[in-house]
Amino acid sequence: MKKSIGTITEGSLVEGLTMKVAPDTALDTLKTGKFVSIICAENTFFCLMTDIALHVSNPDILLYPPTEKETLLLSILKHRSMYATAQLKPMVMLQKKSGDIIPVKTVPGHFAKVFEATQQDIAMIFGDEYEKSGKFFRIGAPLDMEASICIDLERLTERSTGIFGKTGTGKTFLTRLILAGLIHRKKAVTLIFDMHSEYGLQARKEGPGNSFIKGLKTLFPDRVVIFSLDPASTRRRGASADVEITFSYQDVHVDDIMSLQQELNLHSTAVEAAYLINTKYKHQWLEVLLAQTDLKEFAASLGAHPESIAALYRKLKRIERFPFFKASAVPYNAAVQRATSVIDQMMEYLLRGVNVCVEFGNYTSTFCYLLISNMITRRIHSEYIAQTEKFLGSQNKGDEPTKLMICIEEAHKFLNPAAARQTIFGTIAREMRKYYVSLLVVDQRPSGIDQEIISQLGTKIVAQLSDEHDIQAVLTGTANASALRSVLSTLDTKKQALVLGHAVAMPVVVQTREYDETFYRDVQSVVTFKDIDQIVKELF
Ligand SMILES: Nc1ncnc2c1ncn2[C@@H]1O[C@H](COP(=O)(O)OP(=O)(O)OP(=O)(O)O)[C@@H](O)[C@H]1O
Ligand SMILES: [Mg+2]
Repeated sequence: MKKSIGTITEGSLVEGLTMKVAPDTALDTLKTGKFVSIICAENTFFCLMTDIALHVSNPDILLYPPTEKETLLLSILKHRSMYATAQLKPMVMLQKKSGDIIPVKTVPGHFAKVFEATQQDIAMIFGDEYEKSGKFFRIGAPLDMEASICIDLERLTERSTGIFGKTGTGKTFLTRLILAGLIHRKKAVTLIFDMHSEYGLQARKEGPGNSFIKGLKTLFPDRVVIFSLDPASTRRRGASADVEITFSYQDVHVDDIMSLQQELNLHSTAVEAAYLINTKYKHQWLEVLLAQTDLKEFAASLGAHPESIAALYRKLKRIERFPFFKASAVPYNAAVQRATSVIDQMMEYLLRGVNVCVEFGNYTSTFCYLLISNMITRRIHSEYIAQTEKFLGSQNKGDEPTKLMICIEEAHKFLNPAAARQTIFGTIAREMRKYYVSLLVVDQRPSGIDQEIISQLGTKIVAQLSDEHDIQAVLTGTANASALRSVLSTLDTKKQALVLGHAVAMPVVVQTREYDETFYRDVQSVVTFKDIDQIVKELF
């Protein structure tokens, strides 16, 4: 029989439960974020530890603390007059009779015994990574325990996901880990806007030795393609891009400029001017604008405000510096023997289940990242709408689009309250999974993201945050926010995160899975669970 760490003395469903810590439980084995179970006759409750406190039954004891030599006195006091309590927040309960895991609707009785959760408890709640559907993917371990915390990849891709934490906490590593899981288990196809070239080929790992880790293309050469805006930079890092991205000015839609409004400090009259040019010159609007020599005359011909036109011209002129904008950019594609645009090629890969990593190389300005990500996403999204409608029309399983997850870093630049209302990323986050497209947003400043968008996120993975606004922002719309806030405030500075939402049965703190040689081996194994099932069937 395992040993209990304490007993429940009081509490409520709303406030949480108080556990008196057993005298022989070493206090330093208890931590906030620890995962414990309370076993009762009908139900087992699973809880997160949210706080720990010291008490004495008589304040005089504190005035005359026992000396080190008074061991007998200390032992008596420990059993009788000094004690510690821990706050537990019950998250789910297991009904013994039915075996179902359900939300908590009651409380355990007085003196119910509390135990450390076991490996079996954890597997039952978070799923077994070896289960044959392959949907449970291990992202880490609970605090101080050898066990696997898995996320349900199928549920994860049903809604958008957010990964938050301040700089250096391991967001990019976690994101890469989850993307590797999605690619390995084939639960979605991903489109990654890789601002700092950290996902495709390799990335630097901080710390002793300054070593490199493998990127997704290196791990899954046949399942990932690199589209590069800066092929020279991709080559310098040891591989050539699968597709070199080129665009023509005609590919830039006025809506794409909307997303740059804040970044370029564009007045709304300048955006209106862009629409005026668009009405007259259609898809050639940008070419026409950039070719102007007399802006005043041009403004007059449109009936626009000359200052707005001048501002728009000045701010968009920098697009000319990007060498990937070519006068007419519809390259011949040998694979399909016809001229295809970059977007057509991207869509072909995505529909075949091949993941796309868009590398920005040395074009790391926010301006470039926002513009290109918006241009691509807007068009891929409309292709997905068409694909979904085709499927709904034919009801033919073969037409069903693969779920697409679009990964962006610095998400607050895309989804701040002003941008979220007007841009394609806001649309995707709000419409949820209607068209098989969801977002994976990575950000260090969640308070900059529109509140409504944050509350639409299905799953949140939150590493350490120190700004109070950021903490408040990520917990918007979550049940148990105050209990989770205390857990969040005690996370380590690195490789620890609170996972909550749609892809896990209850909120939990994980020690992130190490992204190393062992991980590469696990995700590169070619035998799938279905294969194992088949082999077993054939053998017996
Ligand atoms: N799962 C992991 N496995 C191995 N190392 C990790 C892991 N998570 C974090 N690290 C270490 O922490 C460092 C910082 O992680 P990462 O680059 O993911 O931070 P970040 O949150 O993306 O920071 P920034 O906001 O500055 O981009 C890594 O270089 C690596 O050394
Ligand atoms: Mg990062």
